[in-house]
Amino acid sequence: MATSIIVSPSPLPALASSPHYTRPTYLMCPPEWYGVDYVINPWMAGNVHRSSRDLAFAQWKGFHNVLRGVADVRLLHPEPGCPDMVFLGHGALVQHGVAALSSFNHPQRRTETPHLNKWLESQAFLLWKTPRETAFEGEGDITFNDDGTILWAAHGVRTCRAAHRHVADAWHTPVRSLHLVDPRFYHLDTCFTPLHGGFLIYYPGAFDAASLALIEAAYPAEKRVAVSEHDATHMACCALNIGRTVFTGELSRELAAHLFDVGFDVVQLELGEFIKGGGGAKSLALRLSDLRVTHATV
Ligand code: ARG
Repeated sequence: MATSIIVSPSPLPALASSPHYTRPTYLMCPPEWYGVDYVINPWMAGNVHRSSRDLAFAQWKGFHNVLRGVADVRLLHPEPGCPDMVFLGHGALVQHGVAALSSFNHPQRRTETPHLNKWLESQAFLLWKTPRETAFEGEGDITFNDDGTILWAAHGVRTCRAAHRHVADAWHTPVRSLHLVDPRFYHLDTCFTPLHGGFLIYYPGAFDAASLALIEAAYPAEKRVAVSEHDATHMACCALNIGRTVFTGELSRELAAHLFDVGFDVVQLELGEFIKGGGGAKSLALRLSDLRVTHATV
C-alpha cells in the first residue's frame, strides 16, 4: 500500500538557547530622555523643544498600560543622549529568535544602537548585523506580512534598497521592495502595516505606481484598508496589531468603523507628543514574540 508523506517547509531552526515566548511579547523604553531635539523628519520641523516630557510620559504610560493587558511588556533602560530611543521599533526586526539589527541612517539615532543590541544579546537572540554602508531602520522600514511568509521593505528615505535582501536572508524569506515617495511618510510603518487575517492598513499616496501595483496584487481589495490623507497624517497606519486588536492613534469615525466592520477591536490612544517626533503606536514597541504567537487568538 502506498504511503504519503507530507513535506512542509521548516522554519529556520531556532537555537536551543534562543528566547521562546509563549505570549505576545514586546520591548518598550520609557520616554525619560524623550524630546524633539533635532530635525530628521518633516514632523519634527517646527516642533523642536516643543514637546512636553510630562505629557509624553503620561501618553506612553497610557499605551504601556493597555498593551500590558494583552501582552508581556519588557522594558529597556532609557539612556541620556538618546532622545528618540522611545521609538524602539526601529532598532531591529525580530522573528524566530533572530534579531536583524538596524544600522541607522542618521547619526543622531546611532547612539541608541549599543544599548538595544546589548539587551538583545543578553536575552540570547541570534544577532544578524547590517553593514554600516547599507542603512536599515528595523520595523520602521521592513515588516513581515501577518503570517511571516513575506517581508515588505521600503526604500527611498531611510533604508537603503541594498539592505532588503540582506535582512531577508536572516530568515530566507522572499522580500518585496516598496518605494516611498512622500517625505512625510519616511518610514514604512507610517503608511503600511499588515494586519492579522491577511488585512492591510495603508496610505496609497505614500507609494509610487509600481509599489501600489505590488500591494494590490498581494492584497485583494476587500482586505485593503486604505486610509485618507487626514488619517495618515494622524499616524493611523502606525498601528500595533495583536490578533484582532489594533492599537493606534486617534482615527476618523469612518476609519474606525471600517476596521470594526472587518473584525478588529480598535484601541485609540492619545499619542500627540510622539507624533511631534514623527512616530505612532507601532514605533513605540519592538515585537519580540514570533508572529504566530503574537496573533494567536485564545
Ligand atoms: N524621530 C524619530 C525618527 O525620525 C521618529 C521615528 C518614529 N516613527 C515612525 N513611526 N516611523 O527617526
